[in-house]
Amino acid sequence: MPHFLHNLLSHLFPRTPRSFLPSRKPIAEKENLPTPFDGAPPLGARFRPRSPSYSLSLAQMEEVSRGLRQIPPLPQGALLVMQELDSETASAASVAQVIAREPVMAASVLRIANSAALGLRREIANVSEAVAYLGFSTTKGLFLRLKMESILPRVTTGRGYDSDKLWIHSMAVAQAAEEISRRSGGGDPQLALTAGLLHDIGKLAINAKQDAPLSKLWPENPDPTETIIDRERKLFGADHAFIGAALATEWKLPKDLCEIIRLHHLPADQPIDLAPAPRKALLSVYLANQLVKYRHVYCPNMEIDEVPDSLTTELHLPNWITLLQDPRLTTLIDRTLQLSGGDTATPAKAA
Ligand SMILES: [Fe+2]
Repeated sequence: MPHFLHNLLSHLFPRTPRSFLPSRKPIAEKENLPTPFDGAPPLGARFRPRSPSYSLSLAQMEEVSRGLRQIPPLPQGALLVMQELDSETASAASVAQVIAREPVMAASVLRIANSAALGLRREIANVSEAVAYLGFSTTKGLFLRLKMESILPRVTTGRGYDSDKLWIHSMAVAQAAEEISRRSGGGDPQLALTAGLLHDIGKLAINAKQDAPLSKLWPENPDPTETIIDRERKLFGADHAFIGAALATEWKLPKDLCEIIRLHHLPADQPIDLAPAPRKALLSVYLANQLVKYRHVYCPNMEIDEVPDSLTTELHLPNWITLLQDPRLTTLIDRTLQLSGGDTATPAKAA
């Protein structure tokens, strides 16, 4: 008998002999009670051990940049669309006008809007309506994904990082980073969004390396003291954060964006030389990255960076465990994962 019914019966029939009432088990003995969420990483993931301090010589940096020059430049048209999406005067109509110049993009936006809007019982027939339905943030994510996929080869075969899963992850990080930045106040939510979309671009660049020993990223019996980032440094001369920043620099993306990409795995309690707005965008991306990893395990033996209280305090947000259960953030992340074609994973017990 449920606890509340037991109490109700006791209240309505106070003289009912106790033996007529079913015995009530102590709460601790009850089965299937949800255990309090303790923030343990989801199955298939672990907290990343701290890596030894790391730096590159100028010659090593030049070597990494040289290796990236085989990757084609980002088309100028892409930068124009991104600028329009970031513009304060942008409207669904103005964004649709820019997108309409790119037929593949226009078709994708329409297709995704219609598949997301199945419950509307009517078709979204034009790009402007699709942009309004999806929102600028999602549209920007779709646009960047299409552009990057036209430049960097798509990998889903188990060789290297799975591009599809990586994009699903990045789209969710972008949405969460934008929301965190907005909630935190005084930052630049658009920068947080773009940085969220591009933070792991170095993994796509690693995928593009011909003859790279990609399978060694996930050895059968990994050294538990070694991280995936350590292995990237050993195998490719630099980790994906540095490689991504070098690629973004080659593409002449804004300097703050390049810096956020470079620093996105730096321990959050390290001194970081950034102006207040990009610093806040960096912290938003860092936090969003870890929150999304709790909803979607996107690579083998995924590693989660710890979120110190000092980071959430600086962003004027509740602590990490509270944020992991924040209904608005988790709904936003799950919705983006679904819209992007991913599976959601509710917080799971430790592996
Ligand atoms: Fe990363």
